[in-house]
Amino acid sequence: MQSKLEQLKTEALLAVKAIKDKIGLEELEIKLLGRKGGELTNLLKGLKDLSGEARKQTGQLANEVKKEIEEALAAKKHELSAKEMGGLLEKESIDITQPSLPIKARGHFHPNTLIQNDLEDFFSSMGFMVLDGPELESDYYNFTAVNIPATHPARDSHDTFYIKGHPDWVMRTHTSSVQVRAMQKYGAPLRMISSGKCFRNEATDVRHEHTFYQLEGVVVGKDVNFAHMKGVLEAVCQHVFGPETKMRLRPKFYPFVEPGVNGEVTCFLCQGKGCKLCKQTGWLEVFGAGMVHPNVLKEGGIDPKVNQGFAFGFGLTRLAMLKYGIEDIRLLESGNMKFLEQF
Ligand code: PHE
Repeated sequence: MQSKLEQLKTEALLAVKAIKDKIGLEELEIKLLGRKGGELTNLLKGLKDLSGEARKQTGQLANEVKKEIEEALAAKKHELSAKEMGGLLEKESIDITQPSLPIKARGHFHPNTLIQNDLEDFFSSMGFMVLDGPELESDYYNFTAVNIPATHPARDSHDTFYIKGHPDWVMRTHTSSVQVRAMQKYGAPLRMISSGKCFRNEATDVRHEHTFYQLEGVVVGKDVNFAHMKGVLEAVCQHVFGPETKMRLRPKFYPFVEPGVNGEVTCFLCQGKGCKLCKQTGWLEVFGAGMVHPNVLKEGGIDPKVNQGFAFGFGLTRLAMLKYGIEDIRLLESGNMKFLEQF
């Protein structure tokens, strides 16, 4: 029996060595060590016919053989798993020395964003906070808070998108909606700008679009005056259109300022001589501004007897059109790649 065990061991180890895959290994394991009909199991059945010392010795040998076979099986299993993993890694290998693929299309900023980023940098350098405000706005912040009560005719000039089922919500018609939000949050003194999308229910044409960008600014303090406003706005206009640019202010009504003005710059194309761009006037209208109305300050929790301030609103879209010579406003929201790729 002992020689049979030795023989079984030799054969088994050779068989394990020859195995090439996990399924074959499993079958072999059952064939050798299976509880029912396994070769070793069958051999061990003969143990009970032995007696005394012979039984003890043969039993010991049997255990050793079993252990060796088990170890050989385990080692083979490990070897096969490692091979499998190696195969996967080989398939997925990354050659870090390979040169990268050429970048076919590099993204870039939209012309509105270029202007917005440029002006945000410029205002930051003058100590303005850059704030954000919601595009879906309450009727209160868009109108009532900036001195346009429910019955005010100015509401009619803003062709407002109202929200179905929410009578108190609007798509903001101007960035002036951020004025009172900022005052309520930060109080006086205040120096902030906020730019972003505005919406009006316009019939679109080359100069009208339902979605456009504005840049709002508010400065509030104890001795902030009209001259400060003029100085800041002139600096902005010269930053955008060049140091030779002249600015003029003409009276204009806005409910949230008093006095209110409309700001124009000398046409950069004809230097004020008159051309098609400025409709022969020599001037381009680029912003609205004025001293903040006391009602608006009050709404923002600021005492108009102590503080005063100025506010302005630039048509960012208009600035982008002027700066880049874009003739049709509708191109800006069109997603037209041929157009956008030029910037
Ligand atoms: N909100 C005004 C508009 O949309 C612009 C403006 C802002 C005017 C601030 C005065 C002060 O036309």
